Amino acid sequence: MKITDAQFVVSAVKPHQYPEDALPEIALAGRSNVGKSSLINKLILRKNLARTSSQPGKTQQLNYYRVNDFVYLVDFPGYGYAKVSKTQREQFGEMIERYIREREQLKLQLLVIDIRHEPSKQDQQMYHWLKHYEIPTCIVATKADKIPRSKWDKHIKMIKTTLEADPRDSVVLFSSESGLGRERLWEVISEAIAT
Ligand code: GTP
Ligand code: MG
Repeated sequence: MKITDAQFVVSAVKPHQYPEDALPEIALAGRSNVGKSSLINKLILRKNLARTSSQPGKTQQLNYYRVNDFVYLVDFPGYGYAKVSKTQREQFGEMIERYIREREQLKLQLLVIDIRHEPSKQDQQMYHWLKHYEIPTCIVATKADKIPRSKWDKHIKMIKTTLEADPRDSVVLFSSESGLGRERLWEVISEAIAT
C-alpha cells in the first residue's frame, strides 16, 4: 500500500461528530498501552500522527485518521486502565458499543493483543461481543519483536485458544518496531473493504 496522504481528521465523542463522507472504516480496539496508536503510525508510515505514549489511558475519544481518501483508521480508547474513573469507563464502553452496533461504515475491527500475554477478560469480552454483532474481525498480535521468533507460533496459538477464536478470522503477527506484518495487514484491510 502506497501512502500518498494521511491525516488526522477528528476526535469524536458523539456520533454526530463522526465524518459524513461514508468512506469505509477500520477500527482498532485493545488494552491501553497495547500499541494501537503505534500500529496506526506504522501502517501509514508517519512517526507521530497518532499520538502514542508510554503513559497509558491517553486516547479517550474515537480518533479518526484518513488514509489516501481510501479508508478511515479509527483509534479507540484503550480499555483496562485502572486510573480511569468508573464513570469515564462506562461512557467509553457505551460509545464503543454503540459505534460497533450502529456504524455501517465499519468494515473490519482490529483486535490488538500483546503477543506476550494471554488475552485479558476484557479482550475476551470484546471479541465475543464482536462475534455477537457479526463484525468482521482481525486479531493483531503486536509487539512481536519483544519475544524470540521461535516462540511466535506458541503464543499465537495461546491467543487463539484463550479467545476461542473463529478459525475464519485472520490473525496477523505485527511489530510497530520492525514493521513486521505491515503489508499483510494492508492486504487484510483491503480485502475487508472490497467485500
Ligand atoms: P492507549 O492510547 O493508552 O490505549 O495506548 P496504545 O494502545 O495506543 O499504545 P501506544 O501505541 O501508545 O504504545 C504504548 C507503548 O508501547 C509505547 O511506548 C510504544 O512505543 C510501545 N510499543 C507499541 N508497539 C510496539 C511494538 O510493536 N514493539 C515494541 N517494542 N514496542 C511497542
Ligand atoms: Mg493510543
